[in-house]
Amino acid sequence: MSVAKVGINGYGTIGKRVADAVRRQGDMEVAGVTKTRPTFEARVAAAKGFDIYVPPESVKPFADAGIEIAGTIGELYGKVDIMVDCTPGDVGERYKAEYSAAGIKAIFQGGEDHSLTGVSFNSTANYRESWGAQFSRVVSCNTTGLLRTLCPIDRAAKIRGAHVTIVRRAADPGDSKGGPVNGLEPSLKLPTHHGPDVQSVMPWLNITTMAVKASTTLMHLHAVAAELERDMDSSEALEILRGAPRVRMVSGKSGIKTTAEAMELARDLGRDRSDMYEIVVWEDGVKAVGNRLYFYQAVHQESDVVPENVDCIRSMCKLEEDASASMAMTDRALGISKG
Ligand SMILES: NC(=O)c1ccc[n+]([C@@H]2O[C@H](COP(=O)([O-])OP(=O)(O)OC[C@H]3O[C@@H](n4cnc5c(N)ncnc54)[C@H](OP(=O)(O)O)[C@@H]3O)[C@@H](O)[C@H]2O)c1
Repeated sequence: MSVAKVGINGYGTIGKRVADAVRRQGDMEVAGVTKTRPTFEARVAAAKGFDIYVPPESVKPFADAGIEIAGTIGELYGKVDIMVDCTPGDVGERYKAEYSAAGIKAIFQGGEDHSLTGVSFNSTANYRESWGAQFSRVVSCNTTGLLRTLCPIDRAAKIRGAHVTIVRRAADPGDSKGGPVNGLEPSLKLPTHHGPDVQSVMPWLNITTMAVKASTTLMHLHAVAAELERDMDSSEALEILRGAPRVRMVSGKSGIKTTAEAMELARDLGRDRSDMYEIVVWEDGVKAVGNRLYFYQAVHQESDVVPENVDCIRSMCKLEEDASASMAMTDRALGISKG
């Protein structure tokens, strides 16, 4: 079996998780990660044995900090089949030109526009569309969450229209700059960009979204209302959601009433960084009335896109043709199971 050599550009919230996830797979390896600043994260990356590559202007600061580097970012390009670009949103365009010049493949994240790559990725919905592609984009955390549940529902009973209210976390847990610290902040530009982002993968889906930022860091919460082409009862909706890949059913009855307990479950499962890769759906919050379906789901924004990045590497590097087989490999390596 061929092994894909993967570089990770941007070793932050998403990048460091993707690096660890790639390292756990049998058919890909981490050739190096990049850092621009010699922060504690760079020291941890070095301690984990990742080769660190930096921009030319960072060579001296890293030497001054006593952190060993393997070379410059440009030198990393010569050692990889594919870069996973996890730099902050809107930085990708500059790097796309560099990846193009180096003749390598690259995956971008949801902070970039769909137009940067022309193809966006979700394992459940469109694994094959990135097959052999030079560039693709793993959609954002919220969009990944919506695709994981809406795609199986749409396949079972065509969605006529969906409206989702997103309660967004204000900042990631490791971020001391975000807000609001107190209060709820509605997105005033409506409908929000999340609907069109879902349509970058499911263009036929009639979906609108609104969003409110809340003073929490743990997870996003979605209140989903969908109108279907046919009637459905709650038990059928539950069966569809239970069978959906990377969806974890929980219940208020079992003590998971809030995102706090959902993340406590992730801690108890002993995952890397206590990550909850699955989209969490409340069993006792799924209700179908006639052709209307309602449910709540929670998204662990720091980690749900991580397995999709691994699958996207497999699709783009032509390592595995079958989406289910790739997802099974990824899930086994990351400890994701329906149990
Ligand atoms: N966090 C989330 O909730 C989330 C969820 C899904 C998708 N995303 C998307 O994933 C992408 C990355 O987000 P993130 O949350 O991981 O950001 P992040 O935590 O800020 O990490 C980005 C990293 O990129 C590095 N960086 C900054 N400027 C750079 C440059 N010019 N060249 C190379 N590296 C640079 C920074 O490391 P240095 O210290 O080395 O500068 C930083 O650690 C974005 O597109 C975002 O929209 C984020």
